Amino acid sequence: MAWAEWVTQGGAAVEPSIYAADFARLGEQVESLLDAGARIFHFDIGDGHFIGEITIGPIVLRSIGGTVHERGGVLDCHLMVSQPERHFESVRAAGGDSVTFHVEVVDDPQRAATRARELGLGVGIAFNPETEVERAAAAAAGMDVALCMSIHPGLSGQAFMPEALDRIEKLRSLVSDTVLVQVDGGITAENAAAVRAAGADLLVAGSAIFWQHDPTAAYLGLAQIAEAGA
Ligand code: DX5
Ligand code: ZN
Repeated sequence: MAWAEWVTQGGAAVEPSIYAADFARLGEQVESLLDAGARIFHFDIGDGHFIGEITIGPIVLRSIGGTVHERGGVLDCHLMVSQPERHFESVRAAGGDSVTFHVEVVDDPQRAATRARELGLGVGIAFNPETEVERAAAAAAGMDVALCMSIHPGLSGQAFMPEALDRIEKLRSLVSDTVLVQVDGGITAENAAAVRAAGADLLVAGSAIFWQHDPTAAYLGLAQIAEAGA
């Protein structure tokens, strides 16, 4: 499925965050999640500048791109990097379907969005816990996704920041209905319903899926909560 088609079909979804996967068994884990119905995967690219961690990049993206696309899935790339535009082309070439970059590091979000669209990528704007929601909401105009971080970006496995719930609600009220609200960080089976109720469409989950004894069952549990609705 193409990104545009995926986005317009709307609805809630849980996005397994590849960053938390067991990389010795990555292909197998992705296949199992596809079997369970996952069709959007979250892929974190971090540069060691904007965040302290160097994460994963186009080579790993390429290694799962074929399988995900063959099964009708999309790869939603979260760029936690200081110069996101530098990476759009390589992300696209490696099979990325969308890029979400941070409002804190771009002078002109609309220019960056146009560049992404020219390359055939979907586009989103992300913002950190310290950033004003209004700033992100304004930047999200015309984009597919607005990503509210519910942790400080960097690592999987951090606790959800409860104040994110008000920020999600505010974001949902400020952006147009055509913008999907995405939440990333610390989502678990315990807080997923509240996150949905606050207005989130897309729930990113890393440790709550991949660090569980049975990642597929954990995904299915979260997906059920997400589908149950806001
Ligand atoms: C970290 C990444 C997240 C991360 C989420 O900054 O952006 O996508 O993998 O992991 P959890 O769900 O464990 O917080
Ligand atoms: Zn992320």
